[in-house]
Amino acid sequence: MLRFAQALDTQLRTAMERAFPAAAAEAIAAGRPLDPKLAPASKPEFGDFQANGALALAKPLKQAPRQIAAALLAELEADAAFGALCLPPQIAGPGFLNLTLRPEVLAAEVQGRLGDPRLGVPLAAASGSGAAPVIVDFSSPNIAKEMHVGHLRSTIIGDALARVLEFRGQPVLRLNHVGDWGTQFGMLITHLKQVAPAALDTADAVDLGDLVAFYRQAKQRFDADEDFQHTARQEVVRLQAGDPVSLKAWGLLCDQSRREFEQLYERLDIRLNERGESFYNPYLEAVVADLEAAGLLVVDAGAKCVFLEGMQGKDGNPLPLIVQKSDGGFNYATTDLAAIRYRFAAPPAGDGARWVIYVTDAGQANHFAGVFQVARRAGWIPAGARLEHVPFGLVQGDDGKKLKTRSGDTVRLKDLLDEAVERCEADLRRRLAEEERQEDEEFVQQVATTVGLAAVKYADLSTNRITNYQFSFDRMLALQGNTAPYLLYAVVRIAGIARKGGDLGGGDRAGGAEAAGAEPQAAFPEALQFSEPQEWALVRELLKLDTVIAEVEQELLPNRLCSYLFELSQVFNRFYDQVPVLKAEPAARASRLALCRLTADTLKLGLGLLGIATLERM
Ligand code: ARG
Repeated sequence: MLRFAQALDTQLRTAMERAFPAAAAEAIAAGRPLDPKLAPASKPEFGDFQANGALALAKPLKQAPRQIAAALLAELEADAAFGALCLPPQIAGPGFLNLTLRPEVLAAEVQGRLGDPRLGVPLAAASGSGAAPVIVDFSSPNIAKEMHVGHLRSTIIGDALARVLEFRGQPVLRLNHVGDWGTQFGMLITHLKQVAPAALDTADAVDLGDLVAFYRQAKQRFDADEDFQHTARQEVVRLQAGDPVSLKAWGLLCDQSRREFEQLYERLDIRLNERGESFYNPYLEAVVADLEAAGLLVVDAGAKCVFLEGMQGKDGNPLPLIVQKSDGGFNYATTDLAAIRYRFAAPPAGDGARWVIYVTDAGQANHFAGVFQVARRAGWIPAGARLEHVPFGLVQGDDGKKLKTRSGDTVRLKDLLDEAVERCEADLRRRLAEEERQEDEEFVQQVATTVGLAAVKYADLSTNRITNYQFSFDRMLALQGNTAPYLLYAVVRIAGIARKGGDLGGGDRAGGAEAAGAEPQAAFPEALQFSEPQEWALVRELLKLDTVIAEVEQELLPNRLCSYLFELSQVFNRFYDQVPVLKAEPAARASRLALCRLTADTLKLGLGLLGIATLERM
């Protein structure tokens, strides 16, 4: 629909300029050209689009809006390009123009998408390998601590956003800003020196579970014992200064965690480049120097800080962002300043990014607001660059409280994924028994794994990320409603049509790399023909894909794509339940099979952008 919206917008603008040349010239001179205010129709019976621009012109032109709409309509009727695209428009309400695309235009668009691996989604203006990269900073767990559900959310949302941007042809740098440089190492190394020195100079002397336990003990000592605190702080300074013994211990601890994280990424099919906090260590001094030179640095109680504009602490005083602590140590914010500086700096001194996106919990909103402000004031952000915190809410249990195991511990991600898959397997075995279906073990495992992981990802992505999210296995695994199983079933249902003899065309053009280059083989008719309202509803829903992707990219809200895919599945199911496909007359049958084909391709593409694999049978 994007293409049509753009064409109509231009045609309507021209019509306005022709109908009201004086007003148009004045508006252009004032830098605010007349706007046809084109929007999707609010109801299907109003057509495809409505243009509300006449209303805003009523006052300056001192004419009734309906009269203005009539003048526009006369101009549009004289425009052959408009006539080729739309049926004669209707004036409605106080002076809207209702616009309906010609059926043959819609049918030809469906036809075009059947042969298009991008399904009508255009590449972004700044695409290709020469374009400046978009950085998505996501997942970013902390070494020696367990990855928690917040990191899982960041991982799933960040990956989906990266996939959408990549599909639009943007060069994306997926960065895992792991916490590998903070106070936790001071505590951990100090503690291990006393209780498990082998862990500091021998690989694999302890496993991650032990490490997490050691970290917990270290943290308890740190909070309770001032001497320990002091030693731990000194240990951090030693590490950050490059002491070889500390560095070796640090490297071993990082390896241990890294292996554990990687297992999870592999299972979830997540690609990430690790570039942890330690990477920016060599640039921390330069941050201080830059801020000093910009006249932003203030020494307050021995700490170097920048006072934030428009941000106050609880006492009403301006909030400082501490850049270097009084003991000379740097902190989380300093590292993020160094990271921003590096990411926007032109290569080879930096990444030369034009857009940086941070996916973390909403609790870090103030941290990022402060860091962004200081980076801007320091002059590190080039004009026109985008810098965005993409926050998300908390993960809660069924009871609305923080997600915990029954014994009250934090939930381990591995256990969480295992449980999703196990529950799927149990459901599946029950269903197979009920239906007296025989399937081999490989099928059962494949289906349970795919559906289980899909359910976890989809449940997270389908809620608006800003709100808190209630984790519920029962809800995410339900076969009805806005769930992964419901969408996966729609794909399976269409695959079933092919198995029952419907020619959906060979290959799997929208199904990812393995299918690239597969030639369509189906004999779809030259001109598709639709007659039933259910067919037209499906056509219109299918053609929304490009608009939806553009919105997701603009607003960074994957739940928009989820809602669309859910809506599409519902419209498809209504069509398939109410209109004969395999039993239809040959001409209608071929056109309807084409709709089935495009629906499957659209669902697979959309789910793929969410990081979700599909199945042919389940
Ligand atoms: N490690 C941090 C945490 O666990 C998240 C880091 C997010 N990225 C960043 N550039 N600060 O909360």
